[in-house]
Amino acid sequence: MATPAQQQAARRPAHSKVLRSIAIVLLALIVLVGVAVLITWLVIRPKQIVYTVEDGSVHNFNLGTHGQLNATFNFAIRSYNPNSRVSIYYDSIQVSAEYDDQTLALNMVDPYFQPHRNVTRLEVNLTAQNVSLSGSTTRDLKIEKSSGAVEIDVLLKAKIRYKVGRWKSAHHTLRIWCSPVLVHFSRFKSFERTYCDVEL
Ligand SMILES: *[C@@H]1O[C@H](CO)[C@@H](O)[C@H](O)[C@H]1NC(C)=O
Ligand SMILES: *[C@@H]1O[C@H](CO)[C@@H](O)[C@H](O)[C@H]1NC(C)=O
Ligand SMILES: *[C@@H]1O[C@H](CO)[C@@H](O)[C@H](O)[C@H]1NC(C)=O
Ligand SMILES: *[C@@H]1O[C@H](CO)[C@@H](O)[C@H](O)[C@H]1NC(C)=O
Repeated sequence: MATPAQQQAARRPAHSKVLRSIAIVLLALIVLVGVAVLITWLVIRPKQIVYTVEDGSVHNFNLGTHGQLNATFNFAIRSYNPNSRVSIYYDSIQVSAEYDDQTLALNMVDPYFQPHRNVTRLEVNLTAQNVSLSGSTTRDLKIEKSSGAVEIDVLLKAKIRYKVGRWKSAHHTLRIWCSPVLVHFSRFKSFERTYCDVEL
């Protein structure tokens, strides 16, 4: 006959064995999920999209005495998706040209789909028509114009979705900031490529 103390001693190891098994199973599950997430991440490995302004010019520039601006800006923007598995839907893209934090002109680019490892060139025309500029902006723009070139900020705001295999993400807002884009008034000056900051 076992004494009560002996019975308790026999029960305790059995009890802790069950607990230990549960702990091991839980730990294994956590490790498995972690490894699965890590593998998915490594396989997809999302990389930042690369934007550059490849060309820029200005035409029909006319700055009135009261700060009314007429001008047409042409920009060639290169968009590169370096991902090997992630494609991108651009559902809307707004491009604007700014100077001294004042918007000179604004336009939309047609929506497009960018496959992985794809380079897409966007030709954007931005027309400023009788845009009223503040006194100090008018002054700065006049001084820069007389130097033969102006520094413009080109901003893009896009609504995008990612596509990986058959899966499509929700909408995200992509902000692209290219500054300074030096636009020459002379056709004989060559344009210098501008790299853009991309912010998701
Ligand atoms: C800008 O264009 C408008 C017509 O769209 C014209 O009436 C105005 O005189 C122009 N301004 C300048 C400064 O050329
Ligand atoms: C990028 O994708 C567009 C549209 O999907 C296609 O027209 C273009 O040829 C592609 N560019 C390259 C370099 O593959
Ligand atoms: C942009 O303007 C240029 C001339 O300045 C023209 O050849 C081109 O077709 C225009 N592009 C668009 C998309 O309107
Ligand atoms: C251009 O803007 C000025 C002042 O903002 C205005 O008086 C003029 O009527 C405008 N011209 C046109 C063609 O819109």
